Amino acid sequence: MAYTVAVAGKGGTGKTTLAGFLINYLVEKKLTPVLAVDADPNSNLNEVLGEDVETTLGDIREDVSIKNRDGKLPAGMSKTDYINYQLQQAVIEGKGFDLLVMGRPEGSGCYCFANGILREATDRLSDNYKLMIIDNEAGLEHLSRRTTKNVDIMFAVSECSKRGIEAAARVKQLIEELKLDVKDLYLIVNRVPPEGLSDDIKGTIESYDLKLAGTVPMDMKVFEYDNKGIPLVQLPKDSDAVKTSRQIFDEILITRLKA
Ligand SMILES: Nc1ncnc2c1ncn2[C@@H]1O[C@H](COP(=O)(O)OP(=O)(O)O)[C@@H](O)[C@H]1O
Ligand SMILES: [Mg+2]
Repeated sequence: MAYTVAVAGKGGTGKTTLAGFLINYLVEKKLTPVLAVDADPNSNLNEVLGEDVETTLGDIREDVSIKNRDGKLPAGMSKTDYINYQLQQAVIEGKGFDLLVMGRPEGSGCYCFANGILREATDRLSDNYKLMIIDNEAGLEHLSRRTTKNVDIMFAVSECSKRGIEAAARVKQLIEELKLDVKDLYLIVNRVPPEGLSDDIKGTIESYDLKLAGTVPMDMKVFEYDNKGIPLVQLPKDSDAVKTSRQIFDEILITRLKA
């Protein structure tokens, strides 16, 4: 089974940015093949990675549900084979990684049938990879719906404020409520000002018993690339945000992956 790293937290905290940096890092370290999963319907992991999306899992679910209802699934092919075939078409091949986009959430139709098979097929697909990186939506809905719910490392990303840390602490609570099997949860505080974390923020982190993996500074280059529409994975390796996030990955991931 693929070693699974999930990135979670409130919208706008930098989940997708850090997921993109992580995927780029793993490819450079040749810790491949990597399966990147964009599990946030509002997300744009593909843009950070510089890839175009044609088909999402949401599209497949819609297509299969309608064809199944209307009796229009291709004859001579089992439903499972048909979904597997569709899933293969939805895998976007990048350089050293593949990307799967979950896409839109379920509508009001009946998706139980398509969902069940799709879920199993996605879980099976992940067996072909060394690592799976999941860019989550705030509520962790996708993780709770997977058949296998284990995550090796979860990074809860927070902005640099008391309220931000409190929101990250809710990720910890949500993991318990959803009964997710997360082996290690780490906090990353993003967009930290040059003066670093204040004693108050450090106190809040401690009071929630959160393990701090590290901090990533506010980096105007990230903004600049995003606003110009340049994929963030093209940021120079010595830019502040890239450099510090790589240090975090070196420290937290490398020893575990070599074990
Ligand atoms: N360290 C950073 N310094 C400056 N801007 C950042 C940094 N991290 C993320 N951003 C910017 O913040 C915005 C939100 O980031 P994003 O990764 O999309 O968040 P999320 O996936 O959590 O919603 C983006 O415009 C991104 O360019
Ligand atoms: Mg995002």
